[in-house]
Amino acid sequence: MIGKTTEVLLKEERVFEPPKDLVENSNIKKWMDKHGIKSVNELYEKAKDREWFWGTLAEEELDWFEKWDKVFAGEPPYFKWFTGAKTNIVHNALDRHMETEKENKLCYIWVGEPGDVRKLTYKDMHERVNQLANGLKSLGIGKGDSVGIYLPMIPELPIAMLACAKIGASHSVVFSGFSPKALRDRLNHAGAKALITCDGYYRKGKLINLKSGADDALEDSPSVNHSIVVDRTGGEIDTEIEHGRDIWMHELMHGQSKKCETEIMDSEDLLFLMYTSGTTGRPKGVRHTHGGYQVGISQTLRFVFDIKDNDRYWCMADIGWITGHSYIVYGPMILGTTSIMYEGAPTPEIQWKIIERYSITIFYTSPTAIRLFMKYGEQYPEKYDLSSLRLLGSVGEPINPEAWIWYYKHIGEGRCPIMDTWWQTETGNFIITPLPILPLKPGSATKPFPSIETDVMDDEGNPVRSKGGHLVIKTPWPSMLRGLHKEPDRYVKTYWSKFEGIYLTGDEARIDDDGYFWIQGREDDVLNVAGHRLSNSEIESALVSHKAVAEAAVVGKPDQIKGEVIDAFVILREGVKPSPELKKELKEHVSKEISPIARPSIITFIKDLPKTR
Ligand code: WT7
Repeated sequence: MIGKTTEVLLKEERVFEPPKDLVENSNIKKWMDKHGIKSVNELYEKAKDREWFWGTLAEEELDWFEKWDKVFAGEPPYFKWFTGAKTNIVHNALDRHMETEKENKLCYIWVGEPGDVRKLTYKDMHERVNQLANGLKSLGIGKGDSVGIYLPMIPELPIAMLACAKIGASHSVVFSGFSPKALRDRLNHAGAKALITCDGYYRKGKLINLKSGADDALEDSPSVNHSIVVDRTGGEIDTEIEHGRDIWMHELMHGQSKKCETEIMDSEDLLFLMYTSGTTGRPKGVRHTHGGYQVGISQTLRFVFDIKDNDRYWCMADIGWITGHSYIVYGPMILGTTSIMYEGAPTPEIQWKIIERYSITIFYTSPTAIRLFMKYGEQYPEKYDLSSLRLLGSVGEPINPEAWIWYYKHIGEGRCPIMDTWWQTETGNFIITPLPILPLKPGSATKPFPSIETDVMDDEGNPVRSKGGHLVIKTPWPSMLRGLHKEPDRYVKTYWSKFEGIYLTGDEARIDDDGYFWIQGREDDVLNVAGHRLSNSEIESALVSHKAVAEAAVVGKPDQIKGEVIDAFVILREGVKPSPELKKELKEHVSKEISPIARPSIITFIKDLPKTR
């Protein structure tokens, strides 16, 4: 990994100044004016007073049932934010919008892959969340319980998340593209009492049966007593309902009150678990809590994407990943934003059609998607009116300058700054990110968000400049993870043991002469395939679990579109004959064990494995 893309990046010298009117009217500029901050440098300086910066924002922009004693407390590796405060993120994301001008504003415009559309106002969301919350309570689920959610991109996914949070249960959303086995492992590790899933969904022209996968997982998930099933397809899938365990969501909600008291939570109470791949072993359950998380995600979104009341915002990620949790569900809803939700995958035209049809103003996607759009060609976006767009975003992997320029020119029409946001499941919110007031360099995520200090270090912990090193975070931030679920030692070992008191990100980066950060990619055994995080060892274990395989090694291979693809080397067991059919079977096996996103693109049969990568 190290040094792979360095040469190209260092030659990139173009600088793009943000449009003047955008700067003048930006949320961040207005906030600076309000607090007498005169320059960008002064903003970064003043925000170093983290107590003042986050305390002020938490007070100005969010509601609390009871105020905090301290903005933050603790020391590495555990910090607490807004200690002693009473709150619930659902109060800020929904309840407080009732009886305001937001009540009848659209929360989601949802577009199904077959072209069906649903529009839900904040009031609609509030009523549905309350009914489902009451339904969950009727099943005996409440504060402190854990609920698994296995749903595709349909409105019931955010509704399910908020219904859990409202009654004080934590949710653990498992990406719908994950296998039954991956779901089962996560449900068991989280100790989930219930699962919320659906009959099926539409993706790339196919009807996918999700319920049968969920049922497979439940065969071996003893803690789960209830499976709540959304009817997405209206009977197109033949769904077996197991009496006593399964219940249709609409039946559970039927007759439930549209009012539900929001549970009063401690700031540090668990909001959700999000499982993410580490370098070894099973995925890690990253813990996020109510208080700090709601402040971190909402205020980074407000300042970075400059969201205003009349914006129409579309983040193309899946809610099954952290990007969707923070920046499709909770962040936009706290701000009272109108968001687009799309069920399907990118095609040559669909995203441009949706942008035109719904006058999208802010569009946030991944470098893999951008490179795919480039490959399809600019003749597709050119057919559509994209003049509503004013800001663009990128996330998930390093964006190469060529893709950045293409996005800037052909989608942003030279008018829209690109917010290349670097962050992680663990960080909860953007860490290294432009603000609309910063000059941009194609391929650089620019600087840490005000108040956060990041650095690049060599193995001894010395800061390094103009060459690659370990990307670290030196100061706490409100949405930071609160440990790994049930794995305190692994938490310390993974993030806090390389350098004393400093958070290790696992990425390699460099800092240029202007203090801009250039992310080079993972420096550990974590793969990034099309912005999806997978670990080498997870895929190796899946391969070895096949009866034909004795040993396996997996490496990332650079790819023009996906950034990285999976290259697997396999030693077969004695007596097993190598064949093209076996290669295909092994690829299928990995898809089934983990997910189609983990499917190796190439398998090579070999006699010996080298002992290092
Ligand atoms: C890893 C985190 C957080 C959003 C989705 C992924 C890579 C993320 C960028 C970016 C370069 C990026 C890093 C990071 N990454 N954003 N803008 N530029 N690399 O979350 O699955 O937790 O993966 O994604 O390698 O460590 P995740």
